[in-house]
Amino acid sequence: MRLCSLLLLCLAATWSSTFVISHAHMWNKLILTHHWPNTFCRVEHCHSNLSYWTLHGLWPDKGMNCNSSWHFNASQIEDLLPDMKQSWPDLLHPSTTKFWKYEWYKHGTCAAEASSLDSQHKYFSKGLELYHKADLHSILNKFGITPSETYYSISQIEGVIENFYGVKPKIQCAHSSKNVDVQLLGQIEICFDPDFTLLDCEKQFSTENASKVNWDNATAVDKASEFSVCDRDAPVYYPPDP
Ligand SMILES: *[C@@H]1O[C@H](CO)[C@@H](O)[C@H](O)[C@H]1NC(C)=O
Ligand SMILES: *[C@@H]1O[C@H](CO)[C@@H](O)[C@H](O)[C@H]1NC(C)=O
Ligand SMILES: *[C@@H]1O[C@H](CO)[C@@H](O)[C@H](O)[C@H]1NC(C)=O
Ligand SMILES: *[C@@H]1O[C@H](CO)[C@@H](O)[C@H](O)[C@H]1NC(C)=O
Ligand SMILES: *[C@@H]1O[C@H](CO)[C@@H](O)[C@H](O)[C@H]1NC(C)=O
Repeated sequence: MRLCSLLLLCLAATWSSTFVISHAHMWNKLILTHHWPNTFCRVEHCHSNLSYWTLHGLWPDKGMNCNSSWHFNASQIEDLLPDMKQSWPDLLHPSTTKFWKYEWYKHGTCAAEASSLDSQHKYFSKGLELYHKADLHSILNKFGITPSETYYSISQIEGVIENFYGVKPKIQCAHSSKNVDVQLLGQIEICFDPDFTLLDCEKQFSTENASKVNWDNATAVDKASEFSVCDRDAPVYYPPDP
């Protein structure tokens, strides 16, 4: 399927060079990132009483801050705000639009290279739509992965997600400074291709090389930089509600 779309691009090159230029920077993968508020707030020292996985972001695999002149305007997503507050809440500054503004500049303006996401309304509503479709919190619950004082292994959690969605997620943990042997379940990424069908998060695209340096750099300064891929051999703590 990937090869097919590449072939189409090649064919299109002979018809219209503009088509190819406008797609030259196009991303290949969208990463729907969920975080567990309790873990996030332990790391960031915030307070949250939310007991469901919330949306962190919808991130294309290529590019950061693609268009700084495309200003965030909350009134363009006014109809989405009730759902945004519930599903994509700003855990650090509740009742502000800071987080969405940040996500829009950093990731939304890059996602907008696809015509399916080329407005703030399209971008944020797609994020919400994918979040509701994936329904990660219910799926984890349904298959027995619930916040608990008992530890899980990373393969248990991964197994449930892989079995249900049929693709590999990327699971990230925070490492507790008090107990170095235990890691806290923090973020779960579910990936999609440009047609919004599920995709293996591990799938790499050759074009990713070009932006790799930028991506790593930007990730390093991300708010959730305390999260890293979970250690396969250490137990995972999925902290219950505060
Ligand atoms: C969570 O906190 C908010 C305000 O911080 C409060 O309005 C709400 O009732 C709380 N919810 C629960 C379930 O405690
Ligand atoms: C950046 O955003 C502005 C405002 O929406 C738009 O006019 C401009 O065409 C965009 N630039 C690019 C390179 O997409
Ligand atoms: C924000 O969007 C609203 C609704 O589309 C529009 O009326 C308003 O002029 C915009 N504000 C700015 C500063 O662009
Ligand atoms: C991408 O990087 C990998 C490892 O650094 C390298 O083996 C591969 O050839 C590169 N691909 C392209 C298309 O540059
Ligand atoms: C990373 O970002 C910083 C600050 O934006 C910049 O000064 C630095 O050159 C970047 N490093 C790389 C390797 O891109």
